[in-house]
Amino acid sequence: MNNFFAQIFRKKHIHHKHPANLKKCLDALDLTLLGVGCIIGTGIFVLTGIAAANQAGPAVILSFVVSGFACAFAALSYAELSSSVGGCGSAYGYSYVAFGEFFAWIIGWILLMEYGMSIAAVANGWSGYFNNTLTAMNIGLPDSLTKAPSLGGFVNLPAMVIILIIMSLLIIGVKQSAKFNAAMVFVKLLTITLFISVAIFNVNPANWHPFMPYGWFTTLPDGKTVGVLAGASLVFFAYVGFDAVSTAAEEAINPQRDLPKGIIGSLAFCTVIYIIVASLLTGVVPYQELNVSSPVAYALEKIGFQGASALVATGVIAGLTTVMLVLYFALTRIIFAMSRDGLLPHILSEVNQTTNTPIRVIILCGLIISAIAGFIPLGTLAEIVNIGTLAAFVIVSLGVIFIRKLHKENKSTFKNKWHPLIPLLGIFSCGALMFFLPAETWRRFFIWIFIGIIFYFAYSMKHSHLNKKPA
Ligand code: ALA
Repeated sequence: MNNFFAQIFRKKHIHHKHPANLKKCLDALDLTLLGVGCIIGTGIFVLTGIAAANQAGPAVILSFVVSGFACAFAALSYAELSSSVGGCGSAYGYSYVAFGEFFAWIIGWILLMEYGMSIAAVANGWSGYFNNTLTAMNIGLPDSLTKAPSLGGFVNLPAMVIILIIMSLLIIGVKQSAKFNAAMVFVKLLTITLFISVAIFNVNPANWHPFMPYGWFTTLPDGKTVGVLAGASLVFFAYVGFDAVSTAAEEAINPQRDLPKGIIGSLAFCTVIYIIVASLLTGVVPYQELNVSSPVAYALEKIGFQGASALVATGVIAGLTTVMLVLYFALTRIIFAMSRDGLLPHILSEVNQTTNTPIRVIILCGLIISAIAGFIPLGTLAEIVNIGTLAAFVIVSLGVIFIRKLHKENKSTFKNKWHPLIPLLGIFSCGALMFFLPAETWRRFFIWIFIGIIFYFAYSMKHSHLNKKPA
């Protein structure tokens, strides 16, 4: 029995050097752009309007502040771990050092769900904007080709195709993809700048009253929860992705120095943008009207800027493309790390000699996610993403506490300048946001964990590379 526990809780040791399987080519700016490319997307362009109309009113601004704080605590924990533990695989790699193999497996398994589902969810949003643009040019696709079966269509074809395109980009190689990402981030920021510069002169302060129509937290007679905090657990999706920066550790030229910069820099930048955009959006249009699929474009149209609205829609298409690109990149790197440790089949960690990228895993993910995006609707996918991400943030914050306690001797390698309360605040705030998510989401989450546990005992435990040497 003791042997059993020793086996499932065996730990990896802290190490900063890995075999140089992947090309080291990303600097601090590349990493920050990777973060921004991944963070600003469906959350700000779509969910802001929905959360304002249905849950928080103009106080959706506060929802962004609340979830921004939760992410900031988690980001500081990520920064500390990425500079001290290192390695690729994000929260997965850190958990291996802090908690041992079993919990590392569980967190890795959660991350697979988080990233896989978010790519499919964003592809659905992309498909909606894309088809709107086609419709504006009178060549819109029929419903049967743009909707999942449960929404009355046959397949969401654009969502499937965009994932296969991004798959091809990642096969070509990371530096090319990072360059493409940088160009797309530029377009996205231009789009936001355009919105801000038009909206700022068209604010009607009367739209901000009542500011908090549903208070902080209210349960409606139909059981639905509304208010600033419920809004926060929804718009949290807008921040999903800053942790993806940490999965690029092995491709960073100087991960110890640049990862914390990339993580905190991209999160801080996006938080400021979100607060500005949310304030202007609710200032330009009454919040009740924002429950539409393209609230930013809608607001511009409403104040008479049709041309700007079309430009913004185009920018959003570019913006959502970068989000999918970075999330996809992160997903393949997590699988790569888990496979290299023996917890997933070895075949998934083979790097192609010509492109220096793990082609097999890129193609496998592309096919599976493309099928998910084609046949499962956005709502179902998006719900699951937040619970997985928040769970990962809670575990990373716990990891900081454990590593500080267990590896006192390694103090010099840690960024201990952050306040000791930060991981506790991360656990509390992310845990609280999880609490506001619906029961159905929790059920799906537990089913996924259950499957993961079975897989671990049936395969991963026996094939772990830690079997080869004493832990
Ligand atoms: N944060 C990303 C988005 O809002 C996932 O689309």
